[in-house]
Amino acid sequence: MRDPTDPARRRALGAFGALGLAQAIAGVAPIARAQRTPDRTTLRVAAARLPLLGPENPHTDVWAYNGRVPGPVLRVRQGETLRVDVVNDLPEGTTVHWHGLRLPNAMDGVPHLTQPPIAPAGGRFAYEFDCPDAGTFWYHPHLRSNVQVEMGLAGALIVEEPEPPVVERDVLWVLDDWRMARDGQVTQDFASMRDAMHDGRIGNTVTINGVLPDAFAIESGERIRLRLVNVANARVFALRFEGHAPVVIALDGMPCEPHAPDAGRILLGPGMRADLILDATGRPGERHRVIDDFFVRQAYEVVTLAYHPRKRRRAVSPGPVPRLAPNPVPEPDPDDADRHRIVLNGGMMGTMPGMGGMPVMAGARAAWAINGQSATESDHSHAPLLTLARNRSCVLELVNDTAWWHPIHLHGHSFRILSRNGVRDARRPLVDTALLAPRERVEIAFVADNPGDWMFHCHVLEHQASGMMATVRVA
Ligand code: C2O
Ligand code: CU
Repeated sequence: MRDPTDPARRRALGAFGALGLAQAIAGVAPIARAQRTPDRTTLRVAAARLPLLGPENPHTDVWAYNGRVPGPVLRVRQGETLRVDVVNDLPEGTTVHWHGLRLPNAMDGVPHLTQPPIAPAGGRFAYEFDCPDAGTFWYHPHLRSNVQVEMGLAGALIVEEPEPPVVERDVLWVLDDWRMARDGQVTQDFASMRDAMHDGRIGNTVTINGVLPDAFAIESGERIRLRLVNVANARVFALRFEGHAPVVIALDGMPCEPHAPDAGRILLGPGMRADLILDATGRPGERHRVIDDFFVRQAYEVVTLAYHPRKRRRAVSPGPVPRLAPNPVPEPDPDDADRHRIVLNGGMMGTMPGMGGMPVMAGARAAWAINGQSATESDHSHAPLLTLARNRSCVLELVNDTAWWHPIHLHGHSFRILSRNGVRDARRPLVDTALLAPRERVEIAFVADNPGDWMFHCHVLEHQASGMMATVRVA
């Protein structure tokens, strides 16, 4: 019997991890190569009941875009305009935020700050914006997101390059993590202060493209572009492709110098994406594990790469790894930049300013702060943390003064990571989310070229909901 709530496994072993379900599961649902999204498309947000845990399980009650978890893949070409009519049939308000897109502020989907919430029971909002950058992006609500995203509201948005690299398959894995009860339903303990003050809502069930993954069918010799999107509330994935040497070609949608992942692990905090070139160097019939060992002592198998028993696409290497053309993101000049220091505080074993250095007490609504301010109000009525001069370069020094990991996300811009703990990052990746290790100091730089009020927050959604959230104004 499958027991996703066995305490010994609840943290990292997905329900499938050690439970012998290889037989029952359909493998990774193929949402590769979706068709291009028509000029104008509708997303209906509503409750649904889906077999996340496989066909023989009670169906799970979720919230879904167009009845699907994850939502439909939206796919457009670079430079095209996306028009999405959102219809809200949820019992509560929602919005859609287009994570990682450099779009006009009014289309950013932040309730009260950029638009009114889309009313329940039939409210509508029309989003329309150009997609200036090619890459792997995603969409999700920005209202009560710790609840709405956990209930299933997330989908990928792929912007195609004018000339995409030549691969046999363009594959998308939307990685999610759920906390499910024995009956296969998502537990409703969203107000847990324990989750808020520790590493967020870590679940017990990991899905790829909305199903418990078993095997990913692969053919010897093929070259795959694998797009990874972490839509989990809180789980950081550290993926290891055993027996393979994937090459990272883009991070958070933005092309980077092709490189092997550091220490062989693809580290993906909530909200983050990576595009890989995965050459199938195994032999027909072989099986190799993809494991997540972020929590080293709770490493588990995410999925198996299962080679076709006979087929072989090619016997020689498919050649050098393709390099993606850069996106038109302005280059910041760190030597002529406005500098700001941003200190993250709080959490268990941390201190909150104004509390006399006392550890934060359970029961307090605010568990985290950014430069001493805790924004927990969902109407974003707080004053901006920073006001940046339009078109100026700026360098933000992010100081994680806590004992926890935080994926820090800025809306409306992509930024370069200049250094970590004072050590220059030679690759200077261009990203929209910077994963900070406990006590780490990270310098980021960008040109503040997109006017408006932009959210700046931790993408561990329980941290965001309990104070690790602010706005940055570009004026
Ligand atoms: Cu994906 Cu404000 O976030
Ligand atoms: Cu955080």
